[in-house]
Order: sequence, then structure tokens, then C-alpha cells
Amino acid sequence: SIRCQSTGTDGPKTRNLLDNASNLLTNFLSGGNLGSMPVAEGAVSDLFSRPLFFALYDWFLEHGSVYKLAFGPKAFVVVSDPIVARHILRENPFSYDKGVLADILEPIMGKGLIPADVSTWKQRRRVIAPGFHALYLESMAKIFADCSARTIIKVEELLERQDLHGGKEIELDLEAEFSSLALDIIGLGIFNYDFGSVTKESPIIKAVYGTLFEAEHRSTFYIPYWKIPLARWLVPRQRKFQQDLKVINDCLDGLIRNAKETRQETDVEKLQQRDYVNLKDASLLRFLVDMRGADVDDRQLRDDLMTMLIAGHETTAAVLTWAVFLLAQNPSKMKKAQAEIDSVLGQERPTLESLKKLEFIRLIVVEALRLFPQPPLLIRRSLTSDLLPGGHKGNKDGYAIPAGTDIFISVYNLHRSPYFWDKPHEFEPERFLAQKKSEGIEGWAGFDPSRSPGALYPNEIISDFALLPFGGGPRKCVGDQFALMESTVALAMLLQKFDVELKGSPESVELVTGATIHTKNGLWCKLKKRSDIL
Ligand code: HEM
Repeated sequence: SIRCQSTGTDGPKTRNLLDNASNLLTNFLSGGNLGSMPVAEGAVSDLFSRPLFFALYDWFLEHGSVYKLAFGPKAFVVVSDPIVARHILRENPFSYDKGVLADILEPIMGKGLIPADVSTWKQRRRVIAPGFHALYLESMAKIFADCSARTIIKVEELLERQDLHGGKEIELDLEAEFSSLALDIIGLGIFNYDFGSVTKESPIIKAVYGTLFEAEHRSTFYIPYWKIPLARWLVPRQRKFQQDLKVINDCLDGLIRNAKETRQETDVEKLQQRDYVNLKDASLLRFLVDMRGADVDDRQLRDDLMTMLIAGHETTAAVLTWAVFLLAQNPSKMKKAQAEIDSVLGQERPTLESLKKLEFIRLIVVEALRLFPQPPLLIRRSLTSDLLPGGHKGNKDGYAIPAGTDIFISVYNLHRSPYFWDKPHEFEPERFLAQKKSEGIEGWAGFDPSRSPGALYPNEIISDFALLPFGGGPRKCVGDQFALMESTVALAMLLQKFDVELKGSPESVELVTGATIHTKNGLWCKLKKRSDIL
């Protein structure tokens, strides 16, 4: 039910030219070294008339779950099968790096975890992952609730003002609100910096958005224009990007300097004893500086913080946006969500304990990530030759790929695969519950619960890689629980107070994609105070 954006490369003439170029390339590449792999004969115009992952879905249904796509001057292998995804992500992960994605992100994130080469990654992941332990997450629950409360207060104030003029509801772009909320949370949680973006604008906030915008643009533009010599000085937009980057880097450098200068043995002891309750600053930066020694390389630390700022911001804002979009079209599920919130929270704020009981809200978040995965494609490049399993309808001997093969794992295709999901395009958070309820077993419907007993959410392990809300294998999202808790708190606190409807039709919400799937013009909603609570 979604209309897609046209990027404007229309017109029959352009299309024919592009199609011819594409066919030539396809023919040329089909004799290449990927053997008997099916080749998508799609036209390049398909790629420009709508988000890429829609076209990849149609070709998946046509060609099977491993196929080759000739795309500009390059060929990509597109994977839509859980076993093949499992092979790349978990069984043979160190034979792959981030390829095109690293080219795009390296100028921004340096050697942060996402673009890092395998050897830097191994070293940094060991240092960073322990920072996301249970007590850290527990202390974050308060930050999630405090920041969400700012958004709630803002909406309440807008409603009060409207009330003075006799109105009972307001219209608001919730995507923009979620973006501010997620920025405030990531700033406080990762480096104890309050952007305060829910209530104000500032040069640093503008610089963050400018940088995100450029990262987004680069990920939809397949020629690395930013590598052209002197471009960073000569092209105005590149100059602006360099300035934005400098503003953020200066801010992060200041925070790192401050964290190092204020390192105190008493705080280190509290951290060692996991006494988070009595710590004034429980951020990840404090952990990295205090627990890992003040001599950690500043440049690396900055890359790590920048990576988490970007990785944890847009993704969370996107999942909240699509969760509301889906709920607004399903009033009975909205009511069910509000009933759960009322019975678990009443009018209280969520705490770690109450959060655990908000199961339906958590499943709404996961179902929103199933239908709108963030990011929709995982990108890899093979460092050595490898043998990929054949996948559904594919060659039973698999496909040999040479070193340097670029791969898209289409999480969007996996999550909407008709071979693994009933009614794959429907929003049905209960799909994860059916078996659990009817058979009285622990786990999630259709999955093998013994693979990950007590899993917090339906994940890649119990689904055997059919569901990858946070990726899988060693490079799985390091902030998965942070993100899940954060989204659950934010969604619960919004629906606790307000009824939300879409302002226009679902079809008018146009969808665009870069690193994440988002709307073209915002998620405009009508909000009013819930009438069914006191
Ligand atoms: C990696 C999704 C929130 C930090 C990933 C990956 C996915 C993902 C799919 C794997 C990428 C790949 O394999 O190529 C999400 C979603 C989020 C979210 C859907 C929100 C709903 C966060 C947050 C943080 C974070 C809040 C930090 C606090 C990272 C980092 C990596 C990563 C550092 C790289 C991990 C590595 O390579 O070791 N995320 N993420 N993410 N995410 Fe998240």
C-alpha cells in the first residue's frame, strides 16, 4: 500500500538508453565468473523509478534466492535465502568485509565498527561489546523514559495551545519527532551529551543532520564522487560536509578530552563493582575511558562514538516511524497495544521491570523491523573465493564466487519471503505468538525455541536466519537490546497518552531509502489526548 518516489530519470528516451546499456552489461557479465548463477535482466530504469530493494524483491520471485544483478559498471550477487545469509554472516564471516559500504562510510566513521576492516573490528568489538552489559542497559531505561517524556510534554503543550483555540487535536510529523528523540537518547547514552534536540536547534544538531544527509546521499549514489581529487574543497556541498564533520568531530574530541581529564578512581571502582546506580555519568564513553584505560587512542575512540551516533540514530527513528505507520492502519492492534500499556504501566513511566512485561509492544517493534528492515540490505565483499549454498530454487552444488565479489543480502526479501512467512506483507505482531500460546511452549511461533532459550525477542538464532532484525553472526548489531528497549519505551509512552491517526491516506506516505527506509515528506499524523483514560 505504499507509493514510491520517482527520482526523476524518467522519459522514454533516457529509459531506452539506460535499458540498452544495462542489457549490454548484463550480457557481458553473464559470461563472467559466477558460473551458472541466474542473472536478473532488469532494466536500469527499474532501479531509478523506485527504491532499489523493491526491484530486488521482484527479481527474487523471478530468479530465485541467489542471483546476479548487473548494475552500472558492476555486478552484484543478491542473496534472499536464510541458509546463504547464515553462511556469509555467521559461518564464514571473516571472508567478507563491508565493501561498498566501507567506501561510503570510511570518510565519516573512520575505523569505527561498521566500516572497520576485519583486524581493527576484532580488536574494537572486544572492547566495546562488554560496555552494553545488563546494568548499563538498566541505567539507560531511565534515560529512555526521561527523553521520551520531553516529547510527550512537547505534544501536550502543543495540544494545550490548540485547546485555547477550541481545537482538540494537532498535526505533527512524527518521523521528525522520533528523529530528535533518538538523537537525544544516543547522545546521552553513548557520550553523556545532551543535544536537547526535542526542544531546540543548535549548530551541532544541524551538523549531525548535514552529515547524515550526506551519508544517505552517498549510499544512494553509486559513483564515489567524494573521492574525486579536490572535490572536498571545490564542490560546495562537499565543503559543507567537511565543515559539518569538523563541528561534530570537535564536539566529540572535547567530550573525549573531558572524559579523560575527569577520570576518577572512585568512578572506576563504581564501574568495576557495576554500581551504576551511584554513577553520575553511566555513558558508554565513560566505560571505555574508565575501564579500558585513559591511554586509548583518541582518534579510534572518536571513530567509535561517531559510528554509534550514526548507527543508533536513524535506525531507531525509522523503526518507530514505521511502527506508528503500521499501527495507525490497524486500529484493533493499536487498541490492543494501548490495553497492554494500560494494564502494565497504568499512568506510570516504564521501568526495567515493567518493560519486560510489554511483550506486545516489543513484538510490534520486531514486526515493524520485519516489514521495514533497517537497513533493508546488508552489504558485503568477499575477501577470498568462496562457495555459496545454492538457496531456494538454486543450483544444488552452490555457486563459486571469486574474491572481490560484491554481495547484497536482501533482508527485505528474507523478511517478506513467501517461502518462509504466512501473509508476508501483512502487519501481524501476533504471528510470533501463536505457537507459544497454543502449545504452551517457550519461544516464538514457527521457530525453534531450543536454539536460544529465553530469547528477549524473535531473533536470527531461533528463526535460523529467516528473521534478521539486527543482522547476525559476529557483526550483528552491538546495540540491539539498547535499541529494542529504547523503541519499546518511546512507543509505549506515546500511546499511553495519545491516540494517533495518519493525517492523509497510507498511500500518500511516500517512501525513500538510503541507509534506512524513511518517508519522503514526513509521517504526518493527527494526535489527540486519549479519551478512554482519566
Ligand atoms: C550493526 C540494525 C540500533 C550500533 C547493525 C546491523 C544491523 C543493525 C542490521 C548489522 C549490519 C551489518 O551486518 O552489515 C540496527 C537497528 C537498530 C539499531 C534496526 C534500531 C532499531 C543501534 C544502536 C546502536 C547500534 C542504538 C548503538 C548504540 C551498531 C554498531 C554496529 C551495528 C556499532 C556494527 C557492529 C559490528 O560490526 O560489530 N545494526 N541497529 N545500532 N549497530 Fe545497529
